[in-house]
Amino acid sequence: MIDPQKKMRPIWPDEKSGLVQVIDQRQLPHQLEALTLHTVADVIMAIQEMVVRGAPLIGVTAAWGVYVALTEYGAKPEDDEAFAAACTAIRAARPTAVNLMWAVDRMQKHVLAVKGASNRIVAAREAAAVITEEEVDNCRLIGRHGSGLIQDISKQKEGRPVNILTHCNAGWLACVEYGTATAPIYNAFKQGLNLHVWVDETRPLNQGARLTAWELGQQGVPHTVITDNAGGHLMQHGQVDLVIVGTDRTTHTGDVANKIGTYLKALAAYDNNVPFYVALPSSTFDWELTDGIRQIPIETRDPDEVRCVRGLHDQNLIDVLIAPKNSPGGNYAFDVTPARLVTGFITERGICAANKESIGELFPEKCSRHSS
Ligand code: MRU
Repeated sequence: MIDPQKKMRPIWPDEKSGLVQVIDQRQLPHQLEALTLHTVADVIMAIQEMVVRGAPLIGVTAAWGVYVALTEYGAKPEDDEAFAAACTAIRAARPTAVNLMWAVDRMQKHVLAVKGASNRIVAAREAAAVITEEEVDNCRLIGRHGSGLIQDISKQKEGRPVNILTHCNAGWLACVEYGTATAPIYNAFKQGLNLHVWVDETRPLNQGARLTAWELGQQGVPHTVITDNAGGHLMQHGQVDLVIVGTDRTTHTGDVANKIGTYLKALAAYDNNVPFYVALPSSTFDWELTDGIRQIPIETRDPDEVRCVRGLHDQNLIDVLIAPKNSPGGNYAFDVTPARLVTGFITERGICAANKESIGELFPEKCSRHSS
């Protein structure tokens, strides 16, 4: 049972059993339920079916997934192959969010350096907890750096509400605490700044309408849910001061993969001189790829997510068909916004421009390998 009065996280190890628990985000905002991840199959299902979702949380879940894999397969040395196969399967659960691959690789390297089955399990548990807390800290710092942008606009507007548009859910549900895109908003709101958030509904799975609106409502942040297509109109009429979105993978050259529809928001923002910022922890940078549009793998999902809409009916969640029964659907889950449309990145180390040089100045230890 989740106690909604307590400070929640979307993932936690149960205090008594040690089992990994997650909030089942498929049910939100209508039902708040926890699910236990007993096995690697549970972990993969949770990532694929979007029980957990959002790049940082996918990474954190994968880290705990490697721990689960060791408890399931790591007891005997001869099980090494099964453990390696389990890690490979977790790594492949979804293709776009690079946090997934980053977390599995980091965990695997860490535990394989430890000798002895039970030592490895302890090491995996500790390492997953470290990754979790690092991501919390990264998001807290993103909030601190990003709130300055909102403060500046608030000053220019002499205290009139700052209107921020966001897409999908890049809140604490997609991370662990604070969120990425929402962290500056929560921070600025806590400081007493007058702000209002336009929440894109984010079809097909409505992460904006279901999750971002729920999160903001819980914190008392003024917000309005809008259709995905409303942003351009609002920008043309001076109703958007700033766009902040999250990302699933950003190349170290500045191209941003994020929830489908982000690119169109960036185009509209560019055309209307609205600053367009992307908030991300360093775990979401891809330090290898250089051309986001051609190289970032874009997930395609079940067409029925597009053909149907999920909602509450008589206290039950049901899927309702909205397209003609025989019309095929196409479900592209992400798109890539080229660096030239991005005003800047808000990271745990500060804000930088969307190009290789500026990203490299913030993360020299990552970029030096690619400087030649
Ligand atoms: O398909 P999802 O819900 O996992 O996609 C999530 C997004 O696109 C988020 O905007 C992105 O991961 C940033 S999360 C802080």
